[in-house]
Amino acid sequence: MSSIRYEHIKTCKQTGARLGKLHTPHGTIDTPIFMPVGTLATVKAMSPEELTELGSQIILSNTYHLWLRPGEDIVKEAGGLHKFMNWDKPILTDSGGFQVFSLSENRKIVEEGVHFRSHLDGSKLFLSPEGAMDIQHALGSDIMMAFDECPPYPATHEYVKQSIERTTRWAERCLTHHKKSGQDKTQALFGIVQGGEFQDLRNQSARDLIAMDFPGYAIGGLSVGEPKDIMYKVLEETLPLLPEDKPRYLMGVGSPDALIEGVIRGVDMFDCVLPTRIARNGTCFTSGGRLVVKNKKFERDFGPLDPECDCYTCKNYSRAYIRHLFKADEILGLRLTSYHNLHFLLKLMRDVRTAILNDNLLEFKEAFFEAYKLNIE
Ligand code: GUN
Ligand code: ZN
Repeated sequence: MSSIRYEHIKTCKQTGARLGKLHTPHGTIDTPIFMPVGTLATVKAMSPEELTELGSQIILSNTYHLWLRPGEDIVKEAGGLHKFMNWDKPILTDSGGFQVFSLSENRKIVEEGVHFRSHLDGSKLFLSPEGAMDIQHALGSDIMMAFDECPPYPATHEYVKQSIERTTRWAERCLTHHKKSGQDKTQALFGIVQGGEFQDLRNQSARDLIAMDFPGYAIGGLSVGEPKDIMYKVLEETLPLLPEDKPRYLMGVGSPDALIEGVIRGVDMFDCVLPTRIARNGTCFTSGGRLVVKNKKFERDFGPLDPECDCYTCKNYSRAYIRHLFKADEILGLRLTSYHNLHFLLKLMRDVRTAILNDNLLEFKEAFFEAYKLNIE
């Protein structure tokens, strides 16, 4: 028996979108869902109380970063990640695979794992599938991710084939180690389907991981620089291969347009640093598209970031004031924009869930894109 359970509520009559609930040891989450990212056991600039107020039901954290700082032993000693960071709702931890590939230098992949250097101090490190499981066991997340390789884009068919075969062997080692630890009673391990842009390799990867019977499946290796139509094509080809009675998680994707397109194709879970990262340099999602609040044109604009938004930031502060805070390097500025951007995506997902329930997701999508201009910057 898995420690989590996916309860399917309905499939959209117009699209492949799914409405469901995911029951975890730290509570139930509504899907489709967006998970704010708290890489270092904190969603940057937001307190857990604020996250709750925003309606965050689950957050994501990271094996690689917490292993380096403060060290998983300290988190364990604190009573686990939930207690350490004062967040009692579900937590998903990424395995570190992706960060090893995106952040570290001089990495060398061998069958046993990956040799690389710390992005902090250059020290030599090694991470294996078993090591990634041990760290996630110490952290005590509700959902753990298998240790995978995320191939770059573009990559050759030959390279990606070797890579998915190794990722499958690593997934098997993760599962074996996880079961042996006994932690599978309280922590669920998800497999990650890779395969780049190649349909035959996505098929192979999905088939091999499904045979291992993970309680959930992620689609990895997307949003790594490929055009969006390739991402959507991979989703269309891969999602129908996955078991309908288990959650599907699209890793590292969180732009408003990709969330809607992903849901329509059958994705249940998303995470991305985008809303909080762009907020910290003054870029805000609004119902009309992205807004760069530092722009001179907002110097005397005493209206809210988004006139359609009813978040705390928009109810109380003006574009001119927030622009001033950014110009003066005042930390309240990035707290207000982070709050607003998270509100925007979390509300978008609430609206999407309601639209699935009411069988009007396509009308919702049309109205959203009518107003939301991509790339207005
Ligand atoms: N985050 C975004 N993409 C990926 C991926 O392919 N693998 C892992 N482990 N994390 C990711
Ligand atoms: Zn707002």
